[in-house]
Amino acid sequence: MKFFIDTANLEQIREAYDLGVLDGVTTNPSLMAKEGIKGRDAVMKHYVDICEIAQGGDVSAEVISTDFAGIIREGEELAELHPQIVVKVPMIKDGVKAIRYFSKKGIRTNCTLVFSAGQALLAAKAGASYVSPFLGRLDDVSTDGLALIEQIVLIYDNYGMGTEVLAASIRHPMHIIKCAELGADVATCPLQPILDLLKHPLTDSGLAKFLSDAAKTA
Ligand code: G3P
Repeated sequence: MKFFIDTANLEQIREAYDLGVLDGVTTNPSLMAKEGIKGRDAVMKHYVDICEIAQGGDVSAEVISTDFAGIIREGEELAELHPQIVVKVPMIKDGVKAIRYFSKKGIRTNCTLVFSAGQALLAAKAGASYVSPFLGRLDDVSTDGLALIEQIVLIYDNYGMGTEVLAASIRHPMHIIKCAELGADVATCPLQPILDLLKHPLTDSGLAKFLSDAAKTA
């Protein structure tokens, strides 16, 4: 399973890459706003900066238009920015049409804001490179987000669909582990759940004992 980091914070992206386990980056307009990025030129430059830190990894950059012509115009501009850019398109009618258009032109896409298996099926039929089911936001409304990941993986496997399942809106390390068990192709999350995978009290106490015993042999 690939690990993507879900942030527009350059320091956190660097830290995750330094760990040596990162495969890409996802962003969205809320994450860009959180970093105080303002104005089209600044947004475009920020995407390029992210691509440079991401060392060859895919970087999802989201369109903000909701009509077909606008999505195409924005998506083509984003795709031209850097070869690592994957155009993130919302799961709406014009978005599905745009994904088909981009797919025919060889522009890679990530279909975002997916909350049902039917939406995931449409995204794959349209030729999306990635589909992003938001599992944490489903959990937030008392719906089993992981069950959706399982359902999409099964459907795509049934037909050998090439779209990769990018589990998004991941909130904690168990989400990552469960996504790996279910066969998600990618998990994207903030830095903290990735760092949380490191932790185990028996590792800490075991290391403390080894170090204190090593001191006896010094
Ligand atoms: O990639 C989608 C993700 O950013 C949504 O996460 O935590 O806002 O639900 P969250």
